[in-house]
Amino acid sequence: MSERIVLTRPLPPSARAILEAAGEVVAPDGIEPLAPDAIRRLVPGATAIVAQLYDTIDGEVLDAAGEELRIVANVAAGYNNIDVAAAKARGVAVTNTPGVLTDATADLALALILTVTRRLGEGERLLRRGEPWSWDLEFMLGTGLRGRTLGVVGWGQIGRAVADRALAFGMRVVHASARPDAEPRGEGDPPGGAATSLDELIRTADVVSLHCPLTPETRHLINAERFAAMRSDAFLVNTSRGPIVDEEALLAALREGRIAGAALDVFEREPAVTPGLLELENVVAVPHLGSATRETREAMARLAAENVAAYLAGRTPPTPVWTPGDD
Ligand code: GLV
Repeated sequence: MSERIVLTRPLPPSARAILEAAGEVVAPDGIEPLAPDAIRRLVPGATAIVAQLYDTIDGEVLDAAGEELRIVANVAAGYNNIDVAAAKARGVAVTNTPGVLTDATADLALALILTVTRRLGEGERLLRRGEPWSWDLEFMLGTGLRGRTLGVVGWGQIGRAVADRALAFGMRVVHASARPDAEPRGEGDPPGGAATSLDELIRTADVVSLHCPLTPETRHLINAERFAAMRSDAFLVNTSRGPIVDEEALLAALREGRIAGAALDVFEREPAVTPGLLELENVVAVPHLGSATRETREAMARLAAENVAAYLAGRTPPTPVWTPGDD
């Protein structure tokens, strides 16, 4: 059978080569994210779709692809852009790319923690504006990390990697499931790390760092009520998915001084940022760079390609989300 592998956007040559050995590769010319109707026009007859972050792969896209479709491979660890239930209903496998981006994303989370607690963005903006300044004992003081508590929400690979790094900076680590009613589970605790409940973490952490997937349950997990429960000297860091934070509630919490600052890699309505956030000196914002190192992005693309090649060849894909027979 001839395989038709549809890419929604180009992939690096090393990943494309893996796919070209597995079938005919079809890709649009541009690198812009495709609108839903453009994706539907691209996929008819596909046996595999390689999707990226902003591509919504829902029942309509799966139906537009048709009966030959066997796998949707996401080039990301998060797969909230794919309707997995719709894929299951049609017997279409879904894969993602966990693991290869853990270090890059954890590094970025630490960079954001340092940037927001030490006011690096604010300091750089001051220099770039050419404002006068001088060293003095009270000038632009930040918050040190040693002895402070990092609260990791979501104890997966990335959350644990952030905890390892934070421990090296002398922080204490607590971690909690994103499910408010979940029993604290100490599994995989590093020395100096402890499981707690989400409510306790929100109430006590000096830095709350989000590492859970976006699901219907975690949308707006961090809302006005949780900002009210946070310490007024605490920071929020988000390198997971934007909609986990209610951005309007974040803006209000920052404006009212209910938390000390926020560092964001992801936004509720990317690429837009809620107006007002970027005017605040205690907000650090970068454009979804968690996995953005050359080697990581290549590894992600190659892993997605390996998932497709393995599955089309009748093997188990290396990093499945769901394959027929799972349940
Ligand atoms: C990127 O955001 C990813 O989930 O891999």
